[in-house]
Amino acid sequence: MEKLVINGGKQLGGAISVHGSKNAVLPIMAASLLIRGETVLHNVPDLSDVSASIDILEYLGASVKREGSSLIINAADITNNDIPDNLMREMRSSIIFLGSLLARCRQASMCLPGGCDIGVRPIDLHLESLSLLGAMIEERGSCISCIARELRGAKIVLAFPSVGATENIIIASALAKGKTTIINAAREPEICDLADFLNFCGARISGAGEGVVEIEGVDFLRPAEHSIIPDRIIASTYMSVAALNAKELVIKDIIPSHLSPVIPVYMRMGCRLFLSSNEMKLVSPKKIKHIKSIKTMPYPGFPTDCQAVAAAVLIKARGTSVISEGVFENRFNYAAELNRFGADINVSGRTAIIYGVKSLCGANVKCTDLRGGAAMVIAALSAEGESTVSDIGHIDRGYQAIENSLSEIGADIKRIKYEKKEC
Ligand code: UD1
Repeated sequence: MEKLVINGGKQLGGAISVHGSKNAVLPIMAASLLIRGETVLHNVPDLSDVSASIDILEYLGASVKREGSSLIINAADITNNDIPDNLMREMRSSIIFLGSLLARCRQASMCLPGGCDIGVRPIDLHLESLSLLGAMIEERGSCISCIARELRGAKIVLAFPSVGATENIIIASALAKGKTTIINAAREPEICDLADFLNFCGARISGAGEGVVEIEGVDFLRPAEHSIIPDRIIASTYMSVAALNAKELVIKDIIPSHLSPVIPVYMRMGCRLFLSSNEMKLVSPKKIKHIKSIKTMPYPGFPTDCQAVAAAVLIKARGTSVISEGVFENRFNYAAELNRFGADINVSGRTAIIYGVKSLCGANVKCTDLRGGAAMVIAALSAEGESTVSDIGHIDRGYQAIENSLSEIGADIKRIKYEKKEC
């Protein structure tokens, strides 16, 4: 097992780069199954979730080669249409392969892992949508088998703008007969990146990034090369690192417009932001200001993936802040761990009340989930003394060698191996 050992209280500064987006590259890797040839992706982060997707693609028969930050996927010959349990367990979001396997093989089967660390994650919207496109779905316990003699365009109204369901519909309908319309589609930038990639390959998708997306099915998609958008969640993580631990920090390789839901929140904390076309300088305040209310919502609302890292800043604010979670049912597991640093967070249902404290002290904490783990690293950087953050497999799902990036801006952070003791 591995953990991070952090000596906090250091003044950080300089410049830090943001790598490609996990949530953009995963559906695009799944969509590469639709192309009977080579897909070349650039700006692909080296993350455990990306490795898990590579394992799935290789099991299905594709060949995958990594060259630096590029991935070359050749899906000319697909030999399997099921995803075994061990591969599904590596990455919960592999449900995104359902749409692409259906589109490519007209058949797909997989067993889903149950609930997860941020609450149960139902897939009813995915299944209802795929059945409207013509898939016959059989559910046995947590296992699903889908068959579609033909996928046909349909009008699909989503009860909630689910990111994954929108992606599955876009992928499944790209090669369907006729037109598909998604009403109440998710509007996240990662949806636009998926649509851009598929359109480069010859798909006819319009409206991505808006509430109504239209997909005119085409007969085939051609090989293409695409560069993945920068990860807006990592950018906001670094904004939190800077707000607490640096006088000023330059965050490079970003798309500022993707951060428009989070920028006002950091400004309300007292940060000053200077934006250019692909980077920002954040100048932190002497004392963080509290925020009366943040509510997470689908894009363009404040992202649920950014609430833990924002909370890590607000624990040291002057005054009391409130965060309400509007997307997942159980996203405050990290609060108890942050309290070990001396933070004062009180959680009730989907609301966290954060009473600002003057200082934090080093602690031994355990990651509860991906973004909660990042919040713990941010708190450890600003705590006096040594902290250890264990169960960092969660962090490695979404942050490429986080210790290297943070060391470059002056953090005292090391990754060390340890034996897990039986209790
Ligand atoms: C994606 C992101 C995740 C982010 C989330 C919300 C990836 C790989 N993951 O997850 O980082 O936190 O969007 O921005 O891109 N729901 C249903 N039925 C469904 C599908 C979803 O009830 O069939 C509910 C979920 O339980 C949740 C909400 O809808 O409460 C949002 O889920 P969704 O937008 O689908 O998130 P993911 O695609 O799983």
